[in-house]
Amino acid sequence: MAAAAQGEASTGTTAATFRRVYETLKAELLRDDSFDFNDDALRWIDAMLDYNVLGGKLNRGLAVVESYKLLKAGSEPSEEEEFLACILGWGIEWLQAYFLILDDIMDNSQTRRGKPCWYRLPKVGLIAINDGLVLRSQISRIFKRYFHGKPYYVDLLDLFNEVDFKTTSGELLDQITTSEGQKDLSKYTVDVYRRIVEYKTAYYSFYLPVGCALLLSGGSLDDYVQVKHILVEMGIYFQIQDDYLDCFGDPEVMGKIGTDIEDFKCSWLFVQALVRVDERQKDILFVRHMN
Ligand code: IPE
Ligand code: MN
Ligand code: MN
Repeated sequence: MAAAAQGEASTGTTAATFRRVYETLKAELLRDDSFDFNDDALRWIDAMLDYNVLGGKLNRGLAVVESYKLLKAGSEPSEEEEFLACILGWGIEWLQAYFLILDDIMDNSQTRRGKPCWYRLPKVGLIAINDGLVLRSQISRIFKRYFHGKPYYVDLLDLFNEVDFKTTSGELLDQITTSEGQKDLSKYTVDVYRRIVEYKTAYYSFYLPVGCALLLSGGSLDDYVQVKHILVEMGIYFQIQDDYLDCFGDPEVMGKIGTDIEDFKCSWLFVQALVRVDERQKDILFVRHMN
């Protein structure tokens, strides 16, 4: 009981501390003197950040702070160390915001985090593409300010570049598999599925938070190959859940309306159905899917 109460107190502090760091980072980006922003641009960035970076569960960002505390094996991090862990956490939240803006355009989605997708706002439209790129480039601005000169700076940039590469490649695979699948649904196998979701979801959602915490605590990622394997498996499981909820979750709770069926996605539900159907059921499934 005492341990549980303590646990709750520590998580609560983290969430509030974490949120405050967002305000600091946003204020600094709005003061970035490498570009001569006019007032309209500043207002745009301010609103774009609040709309897209906030509003999620912050699972990935907070996982950096929590993992870092666990790696310190019980010794409380200093205020400075906790602050840096929060910044890395926000780096992942920024990365996620960039992926989601572009993913929603490609998936023709309606809502995200209980609001219209950013690109659906009349004043935004395809400017959203550039906003995604702005978010990605802001990560480098933030990291340069706080980590330039740290021994792990290059490894940190490499990690983000590597995970960005894996995720966008996974999205590519998702999108082209979908357009192939529209012609021939038998292409949707369990192996194809695992490959897509490993890349589009697992690395940035599970491997990246722990990787950030490891680097911050002075570790080398090469020493943690087994950890990577477990985190990737957790990521695949997480996406399976996302696919299930796309169909069966309550949009009010999920904050997004599922589009997997109408998009012909190679989703876990479809792949599992294909494993189980007999020939007659398969014909029905394929014909229904096409109409
Ligand atoms: C996309 O997967 C994962 C990334 C954003 C890289 P989904 O397309 O299934 O994600 P949701 O359901 O739109 O959130
Ligand atoms: Mn999507
Ligand atoms: Mn989904």
